Amino acid sequence: MLARALAPLALLLLVPPALVGPAHNHARDDAAPLRQPAPTLAATPPMGWNSWNHFACDVNEQTIRETADAMVSSGMRDAGYRYVVIDDCWQVSRDAAGTLVADPQRFPHGIKALADYVHAKGLEFGIYTDAGTNTCQGRPGTLGHEVQDARTFAAWGVDYVKEDWCHARGLDAPTQYRKFRDALTRTGRPIILSLCEWGYNQPWDWAPRIGQLWRTTDDIEDKWGSMLSNLDQSAQHATVAGPGHWNDPDMLEVGNGGMTSDEYRAHFSLWAVMAAPLIAGNDLRAMTDTTRAILTNPEVIAVDQDALGAQGFLVSEGPPDLQVWAKPLHDGSRAVVLFNRSDSSAKITASFHRAGLYADSATVHDLWSHRDLGTFGGSFATTVAPHAVVMIRATAAGTRH
Ligand code: GLA
Repeated sequence: MLARALAPLALLLLVPPALVGPAHNHARDDAAPLRQPAPTLAATPPMGWNSWNHFACDVNEQTIRETADAMVSSGMRDAGYRYVVIDDCWQVSRDAAGTLVADPQRFPHGIKALADYVHAKGLEFGIYTDAGTNTCQGRPGTLGHEVQDARTFAAWGVDYVKEDWCHARGLDAPTQYRKFRDALTRTGRPIILSLCEWGYNQPWDWAPRIGQLWRTTDDIEDKWGSMLSNLDQSAQHATVAGPGHWNDPDMLEVGNGGMTSDEYRAHFSLWAVMAAPLIAGNDLRAMTDTTRAILTNPEVIAVDQDALGAQGFLVSEGPPDLQVWAKPLHDGSRAVVLFNRSDSSAKITASFHRAGLYADSATVHDLWSHRDLGTFGGSFATTVAPHAVVMIRATAAGTRH
């Protein structure tokens, strides 16, 4: 049963790497083929930070400035994190002209000054709105103000907008998101559009034509079970992802305290193998060394950011909860995650063939210990701690069939 369920995934891995990636077979609202020039926005999954997971509504300009500072001093900027995104609750009203007004107590210098500060750090600036009448926290939404808000954001120097889907009853999601995307495009400023309708309207069918990333799930929580649930749901849409358009299983919880370090390493590894946006959601000003080491692991980030832009797949599951995931990389090698979802240590075997590597043997490099582990025939097996991963890169060494 399971083998049958996994067969289509294995077949997909037989496809030459260049063909794995954008494969849009389900265009619902637009019959034109999705042959696009190389994307200028989000050619690889966006990386950054967002205020929601840690701060929720408790945001202000001081926190955002200190976060931008920490992004630089912690090495996160140099590791590839670019976007500093304020989520919900920055806005309180509209003025007489209909322009969105930032909370004057929390953002006394206004959003433009904050964007300037972030830009001066060599970073990019993102903001949040909602396609409906109000945001999820009841602040003013963009409905009926698409052109005005897009112009406001462009004038403030916004580089990334997350658009939510609360208070949007009766609206058609592709129509509303396209309307706002068109308004953003007309500003002339390159702005990433992050769609956030939680997978409720099958965004994988239409969002790749509209924005650069779309949520596939409900909100993540800082819990092992929530992380697994978002992983499993987002994995269903792997063939749709590719340069310029990415499935978004929601922001990272690494460092927020609800999971163990092994669980956070697993979370980060699996987001990377899924080519998910890497949007940190912790307090960057107070990170432990362990959290920083997870978020800045260059070898895992390189998997996420690989130029091929293929989202990885679940390629095998031995006993339940012992999984192998694989992601094709541009040089023909494979990133492989041996993932122990069970509560006890277990041996997991990753077959090179099943991971899509057609060679008798492969060299194996460990992406968390940063060691070359040697050359292995046929498969690589190791003991994996409970709720943990071993993540490797496997490169064909022996004769190809
Ligand atoms: C929704 C989104 C979250 C966050 C909150 C803010 O729940 O899915 O990511 O933006 O709204 O209110």
